[in-house]
Amino acid sequence: MRRKLVAGNWKMHGAFAQNAMLLDALRSGTASISNVDCAVCVPFPYLFQAQQKLSGSAVRWGAQDVHQMDKGAYTGEVSAAMLRDFGCSYVIVGHSERRAYYAESSHLVAEKFLAAQQAGIIPVLCVGETLEQREKGITEDIVAEQLDALIQLGGVQALRNAVVAYEPVWAIGTGKTATAAQAQAVHKFIRQRVASHDGQIATGLCILYGGSVKANNAAELFAMPDIDGGLIGGASLVADEFLAICRAGVRT
Ligand code: 13P
Repeated sequence: MRRKLVAGNWKMHGAFAQNAMLLDALRSGTASISNVDCAVCVPFPYLFQAQQKLSGSAVRWGAQDVHQMDKGAYTGEVSAAMLRDFGCSYVIVGHSERRAYYAESSHLVAEKFLAAQQAGIIPVLCVGETLEQREKGITEDIVAEQLDALIQLGGVQALRNAVVAYEPVWAIGTGKTATAAQAQAVHKFIRQRVASHDGQIATGLCILYGGSVKANNAAELFAMPDIDGGLIGGASLVADEFLAICRAGVRT
């Protein structure tokens, strides 16, 4: 059975003093949670703080983006090797906010994914459709294009030690969670698409759901057969809420 993963995405939130309290609470709160992997993906400037606060605890940490090249004249960018220097276990690639606001293509996202993996960091590949795309009935086409770009560039084996996060854009930060059945249908589609290349990799693949996951809906989502945990935005900034979501992973 696949182990559940609950990962927080702080997005562009945080402040040094406030983070310290949140990270301390996660450190102590997760000590009693077993069988669920917990992680937080923080803004770059707080990686050192996350490393200081979380080293030796059950909580792992990561970043929200990475550059595709390993070094060079790319002002303002951060490489996977740099993330490794700060002990990152995970990095999110292709979040819908980056695809929408920074015009990241599925090919670029695939390059970032592979750069992270080569540096020993587990990439979290975000996929998902907009409301307009869902209403047009092309959800599967959109998710397939986002997934296939990676499989074309890196081969299906790139998904052996990786995470895919299904995040319907219309559910992000809106309070409008996908129903467990809606999410499960897309998760199943993702797993089947990977299985068409390699059944074993598909069976082992961790597929997270993200989009308005809260303590009061996490258990129902996590109980679905193809939902292996969550990628949590707003609720990851509130220690009690995030810990409750982590605990929901234990019960399912
Ligand atoms: P919310 O949980 O705030 O909807 O955000 C989801 C998300 O985008 C996580 O990456």
